[in-house]
Amino acid sequence: LKIIKNIKEMQATSEKIRTEGKKIVLVPTMGYLHNGHLSLIRQGKEHGDVANMSLFVNPTQFAPNEDFEKYPRNFEKDCFSAEKSGCDILFAPEASEMYPSDYASFINIGGITKKFEGAFRPNHFKGVATVVAKLFNATKPHFAIFGQKDYQQSLVVKRLAEDLNFDLTIIVAPTVREADGLAMSSRNVYLSPEERSKATILFTAMEEAIEAIQAGERRRKVINAIMHNHLRKLPEIKIDYASAADASNFDEPEEFVQGQLIVLLLAVYLGKTRLIDNALVSLPSAISSKPKSFIDGLEHIERQSD
Ligand code: PAF
Repeated sequence: LKIIKNIKEMQATSEKIRTEGKKIVLVPTMGYLHNGHLSLIRQGKEHGDVANMSLFVNPTQFAPNEDFEKYPRNFEKDCFSAEKSGCDILFAPEASEMYPSDYASFINIGGITKKFEGAFRPNHFKGVATVVAKLFNATKPHFAIFGQKDYQQSLVVKRLAEDLNFDLTIIVAPTVREADGLAMSSRNVYLSPEERSKATILFTAMEEAIEAIQAGERRRKVINAIMHNHLRKLPEIKIDYASAADASNFDEPEEFVQGQLIVLLLAVYLGKTRLIDNALVSLPSAISSKPKSFIDGLEHIERQSD
């Protein structure tokens, strides 16, 4: 595993790999790697020759009241796990390398950044878009792979790549879940054992909504209410949002229609820990109504436990 901390060195290394005709896959992370991240490396390797994982806890995507300082970090362990999963390069710059004292440029993306996460974390996607663009420029990848767990982020990154003409392909990989359905996340480490056992409620709330959709429910507010009512069973839960929307543009119609792809989006506090999750549900079109293709988000999960 080659560890690179300097942007110029990273760019020169990528340039050399490109001239050798090899394809680079970037796996952007903030470290404290879990199986979800490691599966991104493995999937990345199916698309390209060289897997470059970036490890950078990006200060600009955290609000002052958020968990930047206490975000879990374990560089040694991350290097070990990344190498074991087939990672070739680890790009791990210091904050001063990414944001020198005279740094002044930020990327603002409109539309989809205003809702859901964007409504509760107003500058979050500005920080994400900025750092992702910087990571693209530093690592010069042919492909960049992101987890579906951060569904809105994946749409924002696709928008960024398209609008700013980044010459690369964005891949979105399915969420990896623990055996009880909890989406893997570095932040799960904040949960007490008791909270951890209750955290599966995000998954079961989505399952209940999906069952209703399967049974024919199309009214968005009713689908939202099913998720809210389910989550409210736990007094420790505070809901930021639990909403169904069009998966491509976050439109929120009164009723969903045949052929539409719905995303269920959840963000809740369980005690002091903020958890997010999502699932895709496709409504079969009138002609092809194969039951197998009905649920995307939860059917495609690769359930894994440590
Ligand atoms: O998803 C994450 O871990 C981060 O938001 C990302 C994409 C690495 C940008 O800091």
